[in-house]
Amino acid sequence: MLTFLRHFFRDARNTGSILPSSPALARAMVHGLATGAPQRWLEVGPGTGPFTRALLAAKRPGDQVVIVELSKDFCTRLDADVLVPWKKAHPNEAGEVQLINAPIEEARLEPGFDHVVCGLPFNNFPPELVERIMVQLRALIRPAGSLRYFAYVGARTLRDGHGALHGAEPLAVIEDRVLAGCTRSSEVVVANIPPAKTTTVIFPS
Ligand SMILES: C[S@@+](CC[C@H](N)C(=O)[O-])C[C@H]1O[C@@H](n2cnc3c(N)ncnc32)[C@H](O)[C@@H]1O
Repeated sequence: MLTFLRHFFRDARNTGSILPSSPALARAMVHGLATGAPQRWLEVGPGTGPFTRALLAAKRPGDQVVIVELSKDFCTRLDADVLVPWKKAHPNEAGEVQLINAPIEEARLEPGFDHVVCGLPFNNFPPELVERIMVQLRALIRPAGSLRYFAYVGARTLRDGHGALHGAEPLAVIEDRVLAGCTRSSEVVVANIPPAKTTTVIFPS
């Protein structure tokens, strides 16, 4: 928790929160992913790893997990606190989990992911960056695959209200453009500080 707070004061825009997400939000973010044949999952912006822990708990032998995190500090903590212990407990699956320290915009990833779990604070980003990352994630996900991201309840209204003063495009317009043809649904998770809304996007087949 202190790691997160320290990080927020150093880089508020990219950290996006003073607290890591709750276990309830983590469960909602990974709900329903592990079905059918072995899959490839991508997690973007794990921070201290609440969603990573939930992903690893859901992971079956053969599922591949790629994790991309901007901050070196968060990567070091995530590796020490979550990945190393998990790999020790699951030595046969250790090679199926990969952590990459890079901004997602610069990560070179093989496309074809079944599911992307995204912890990025889109409401803090300039519209051009949101669009660039969403287009990139769309290109990385296979047909009929899914993308799930979250935002704090009310944050979008605040952001778009503030953005309107500067002529910035509302995020909903960017989502409508980039995610055209996709099915979208959302869920509110009140057991999080602050309460959050997840958005699940299913891409066309
Ligand atoms: C709101 S925090 C979420 C952390 C964690 N998923 C959680 O829910 O507690 C956002 C995370 O995204 C990371 N991040 C921000 N911009 C990024 C980028 N361009 N590429 C990869 N990670 C990024 C931050 O360093 C931070 O770990």
